[in-house]
Amino acid sequence: MHIQTYDQLSEQVALKLIATVNEKPNACLALPTGKTPLGTYQTLTRHFRQDPALDWSKTRCFALDEYLEIKESDSFQTFLLEHLYQKSNIAIENTFSPAQVVNYDEVIEQMGGLDLTLLGIGRNGHIAFNEPETCPVSFTHCTWLEKSTLDANRSDFTGKQPDKAITVGIETIMRSRRIILIASGSSKRDIVKQAFSGEVTSRIPASFLQRHPNLQVLTDFGFSLDTTNSWQQSSSL
Ligand code: PGA
Repeated sequence: MHIQTYDQLSEQVALKLIATVNEKPNACLALPTGKTPLGTYQTLTRHFRQDPALDWSKTRCFALDEYLEIKESDSFQTFLLEHLYQKSNIAIENTFSPAQVVNYDEVIEQMGGLDLTLLGIGRNGHIAFNEPETCPVSFTHCTWLEKSTLDANRSDFTGKQPDKAITVGIETIMRSRRIILIASGSSKRDIVKQAFSGEVTSRIPASFLQRHPNLQVLTDFGFSLDTTNSWQQSSSL
Protein backbone atom coordinates (compact mmCIF):
# COMPACT_ATOMS: atom_id res chain seq x y z
CA MET A 1 0.00 0.00 0.00
CA HIS A 2 1.27 3.46 -0.88
CA ILE A 3 1.32 5.51 2.31
CA GLN A 4 -0.03 9.03 1.94
CA THR A 5 -1.05 10.10 5.42
CA TYR A 6 0.26 9.93 8.96
CA ASP A 7 -2.70 7.71 9.93
CA GLN A 8 -1.84 5.25 7.16
CA LEU A 9 1.80 5.26 8.23
CA SER A 10 0.80 4.57 11.84
CA GLU A 11 -1.56 1.77 10.83
CA GLN A 12 1.06 0.09 8.61
CA VAL A 13 3.70 0.17 11.32
CA ALA A 14 1.30 -1.05 14.01
CA LEU A 15 0.33 -3.99 11.79
CA LYS A 16 3.99 -4.87 11.24
CA LEU A 17 4.60 -4.85 15.00
CA ILE A 18 1.52 -7.00 15.58
CA ALA A 19 2.61 -9.47 12.88
CA THR A 20 6.08 -9.69 14.45
CA VAL A 21 4.65 -10.55 17.86
CA ASN A 22 2.06 -12.95 16.41
CA GLU A 23 4.91 -14.84 14.77
CA LYS A 24 7.17 -14.69 17.84
CA PRO A 25 5.27 -13.91 21.07
CA ASN A 26 8.48 -13.37 23.08
CA ALA A 27 10.01 -11.08 20.45
CA CYS A 28 12.48 -8.43 21.60
CA LEU A 29 11.38 -5.01 20.35
CA ALA A 30 13.37 -1.79 20.59
CA LEU A 31 10.98 1.14 20.77
CA PRO A 32 11.26 4.88 20.23
CA THR A 33 9.58 7.81 21.90
CA GLY A 34 8.82 11.18 20.33
CA LYS A 35 6.05 12.61 18.20
CA THR A 36 6.41 10.29 15.21
CA PRO A 37 5.61 6.94 16.90
CA LEU A 38 2.69 8.39 18.87
CA GLY A 39 0.21 7.45 16.11
CA THR A 40 1.62 3.93 15.96
CA TYR A 41 1.12 3.51 19.71
CA GLN A 42 -2.41 4.95 19.49
CA THR A 43 -3.20 2.52 16.68
CA LEU A 44 -1.76 -0.37 18.68
CA THR A 45 -3.90 0.72 21.64
CA ARG A 46 -6.99 0.55 19.41
CA HIS A 47 -6.03 -2.96 18.25
CA PHE A 48 -5.50 -4.06 21.85
CA ARG A 49 -8.97 -2.74 22.74
CA GLN A 50 -10.66 -4.37 19.77
CA ASP A 51 -8.87 -7.71 19.77
CA PRO A 52 -8.75 -9.49 23.13
CA ALA A 53 -6.70 -12.28 21.51
CA LEU A 54 -3.78 -9.91 21.00
CA ASP A 55 -1.25 -11.15 23.54
CA TRP A 56 2.01 -9.31 24.17
CA SER A 57 2.49 -10.71 27.68
CA LYS A 58 5.74 -12.42 26.68
CA THR A 59 7.05 -9.61 24.47
CA ARG A 60 10.21 -7.87 25.67
CA CYS A 61 10.32 -4.10 25.07
CA PHE A 62 13.55 -2.10 25.16
CA ALA A 63 13.40 1.69 25.17
CA LEU A 64 15.95 3.09 22.75
CA ASP A 65 17.04 5.91 25.00
CA GLU A 66 16.36 7.97 28.10
CA TYR A 67 17.24 11.41 29.40
CA LEU A 68 19.61 11.68 32.34
CA GLU A 69 18.72 13.81 35.37
CA ILE A 70 15.08 13.90 34.37
CA LYS A 71 11.86 14.37 36.31
CA GLU A 72 10.11 11.01 36.22
CA SER A 73 6.98 12.53 34.67
CA ASP A 74 9.06 13.87 31.72
CA SER A 75 10.96 10.60 31.17
CA PHE A 76 10.73 8.32 28.15
CA GLN A 77 9.83 5.46 30.49
CA THR A 78 6.73 7.40 31.56
CA PHE A 79 5.96 8.15 27.89
CA LEU A 80 6.11 4.45 26.97
CA LEU A 81 4.10 3.49 30.07
CA GLU A 82 1.37 5.99 29.28
CA HIS A 83 1.20 5.49 25.53
CA LEU A 84 1.86 1.78 25.18
CA TYR A 85 2.69 -0.41 28.16
CA GLN A 86 -0.38 0.45 30.24
CA LYS A 87 -2.62 0.25 27.17
CA SER A 88 -1.63 -3.33 26.37
CA ASN A 89 -0.97 -6.54 28.26
CA ILE A 90 2.80 -6.01 28.05
CA ALA A 91 4.21 -7.17 31.40
CA ILE A 92 6.05 -4.36 33.16
CA GLU A 93 8.83 -6.79 34.14
CA ASN A 94 9.42 -7.30 30.40
CA THR A 95 10.10 -3.60 29.80
CA PHE A 96 13.61 -2.20 29.96
CA SER A 97 15.27 1.19 29.87
CA PRO A 98 18.96 1.89 29.33
CA ALA A 99 18.82 4.20 32.36
CA GLN A 100 17.75 1.34 34.61
CA VAL A 101 19.74 -1.60 33.27
CA VAL A 102 23.49 -2.04 33.59
CA ASN A 103 25.06 -3.64 30.50
CA TYR A 104 22.03 -3.03 28.28
CA ASP A 105 23.65 -4.64 25.23
CA GLU A 106 24.56 -7.74 27.22
CA VAL A 107 21.01 -8.07 28.53
CA ILE A 108 19.64 -7.68 24.99
CA GLU A 109 22.02 -10.35 23.76
CA GLN A 110 21.15 -12.72 26.62
CA MET A 111 17.50 -12.42 25.64
CA GLY A 112 18.30 -13.49 22.10
CA GLY A 113 18.95 -10.12 20.46
CA LEU A 114 16.56 -7.55 19.03
CA ASP A 115 14.04 -8.93 16.55
CA LEU A 116 12.73 -5.54 15.47
CA THR A 117 13.91 -2.00 16.13
CA LEU A 118 11.51 0.83 15.40
CA LEU A 119 13.22 4.18 14.90
CA GLY A 120 12.38 7.81 14.29
CA ILE A 121 14.92 10.20 12.84
CA GLY A 122 16.06 13.56 14.17
CA ARG A 123 16.33 16.60 11.93
CA ASN A 124 20.10 16.29 12.28
CA GLY A 125 19.96 12.63 11.22
CA HIS A 126 20.26 11.11 14.66
CA ILE A 127 18.80 7.66 15.38
CA ALA A 128 17.89 7.08 19.00
CA PHE A 129 20.21 9.70 20.56
CA ASN A 130 23.19 8.86 18.37
CA GLU A 131 24.03 12.40 17.39
CA PRO A 132 26.19 13.28 14.35
CA GLU A 133 29.78 11.99 14.59
CA THR A 134 28.84 9.11 16.90
CA CYS A 135 31.13 6.16 16.23
CA PRO A 136 29.29 3.55 14.11
CA VAL A 137 30.57 0.73 16.32
CA SER A 138 29.03 2.30 19.41
CA PHE A 139 27.03 0.35 21.97
CA THR A 140 24.83 1.80 24.72
CA HIS A 141 26.44 5.00 25.98
CA CYS A 142 25.82 8.42 27.51
CA THR A 143 25.84 11.45 25.26
CA TRP A 144 25.38 15.21 25.19
CA LEU A 145 22.48 16.35 23.05
CA GLU A 146 22.96 18.72 20.14
CA LYS A 147 21.30 22.11 20.06
CA SER A 148 18.98 21.07 17.20
CA THR A 149 17.79 18.10 19.27
CA LEU A 150 17.22 20.32 22.32
CA ASP A 151 15.33 22.86 20.19
CA ALA A 152 13.12 20.17 18.63
CA ASN A 153 12.12 18.73 22.02
CA ARG A 154 11.95 21.88 24.16
CA SER A 155 8.15 21.88 24.38
CA ASP A 156 8.12 18.35 25.89
CA PHE A 157 9.30 19.58 29.28
CA THR A 158 7.47 20.94 32.26
CA GLY A 159 10.70 21.07 34.28
CA LYS A 160 14.31 21.79 33.32
CA GLN A 161 15.25 20.35 29.93
CA PRO A 162 18.10 17.85 30.24
CA ASP A 163 21.02 18.03 27.83
CA LYS A 164 22.40 14.55 28.54
CA ALA A 165 20.96 11.16 27.70
CA ILE A 166 21.75 7.48 27.57
CA THR A 167 21.11 5.75 24.27
CA VAL A 168 21.60 2.45 22.53
CA GLY A 169 24.49 2.71 20.09
CA ILE A 170 24.55 2.50 16.32
CA GLU A 171 25.97 -1.01 16.54
CA THR A 172 23.20 -2.00 18.99
CA ILE A 173 20.71 -0.94 16.32
CA MET A 174 22.61 -2.53 13.44
CA ARG A 175 22.58 -5.89 15.26
CA SER A 176 18.78 -5.90 15.28
CA ARG A 177 17.45 -8.52 12.86
CA ARG A 178 15.03 -6.03 11.38
CA ILE A 179 14.76 -2.24 11.42
CA ILE A 180 11.83 0.01 10.54
CA LEU A 181 12.48 3.76 10.44
CA ILE A 182 9.50 6.08 10.28
CA ALA A 183 9.35 9.77 9.43
CA SER A 184 6.44 12.14 9.08
CA GLY A 185 6.00 15.65 7.75
CA SER A 186 7.89 17.97 5.46
CA SER A 187 10.43 18.93 8.16
CA LYS A 188 11.92 15.42 7.85
CA ARG A 189 11.99 15.28 4.04
CA ASP A 190 15.48 16.69 3.51
CA ILE A 191 17.21 14.65 6.19
CA VAL A 192 15.54 11.42 5.02
CA LYS A 193 16.71 12.12 1.48
CA GLN A 194 20.27 12.82 2.66
CA ALA A 195 20.33 9.75 4.92
CA PHE A 196 19.03 7.22 2.42
CA SER A 197 19.86 8.62 -1.01
CA GLY A 198 23.29 10.01 -0.19
CA GLU A 199 26.64 8.75 1.04
CA VAL A 200 27.07 6.79 4.27
CA THR A 201 28.64 9.26 6.67
CA SER A 202 28.97 9.77 10.42
CA ARG A 203 27.68 13.32 9.85
CA ILE A 204 24.28 11.62 9.36
CA PRO A 205 24.06 8.63 11.72
CA ALA A 206 20.89 7.29 10.02
CA SER A 207 22.87 6.83 6.82
CA PHE A 208 24.64 3.80 8.38
CA LEU A 209 21.29 2.00 8.20
CA GLN A 210 21.75 1.79 4.42
CA ARG A 211 24.10 -1.10 5.21
CA HIS A 212 21.45 -3.09 7.08
CA PRO A 213 20.04 -6.04 5.09
CA ASN A 214 16.54 -5.81 6.55
CA LEU A 215 15.62 -2.14 6.70
CA GLN A 216 12.34 -0.49 5.80
CA VAL A 217 11.98 3.28 5.71
CA LEU A 218 8.35 4.38 5.75
CA THR A 219 7.17 7.97 5.48
CA ASP A 220 4.02 9.93 4.75
CA PHE A 221 5.75 12.16 2.21
CA GLY A 222 6.31 9.82 -0.69
CA PHE A 223 9.64 8.22 0.21
CA SER A 224 10.05 4.59 1.04
CA LEU A 225 12.96 2.20 1.01
CA ASP A 226 13.12 -1.53 1.55
CA THR A 227 16.56 -3.12 1.56
CA THR A 228 14.96 -6.56 1.82
CA ASN A 229 13.54 -6.10 -1.68
CA SER A 230 16.83 -5.32 -3.37
CA TRP A 231 16.71 -1.63 -2.73
CA GLN A 232 13.36 -0.83 -4.28
CA GLN A 233 12.76 2.83 -3.81
CA SER A 234 9.95 5.13 -4.73
CA SER A 235 10.54 8.73 -4.12
CA SER A 236 8.95 12.04 -4.93
CA LEU A 237 11.57 14.00 -3.06
P1 PGA B 1 10.21 13.04 16.69
O1 PGA B 1 11.68 12.66 17.11
O2 PGA B 1 9.51 11.77 16.40
O3 PGA B 1 9.65 13.73 17.91
O4 PGA B 1 10.31 13.93 15.50
C1 PGA B 1 12.39 11.77 16.31
C2 PGA B 1 13.78 11.63 16.84
O5 PGA B 1 14.34 12.62 17.35
O6 PGA B 1 14.33 10.53 16.72
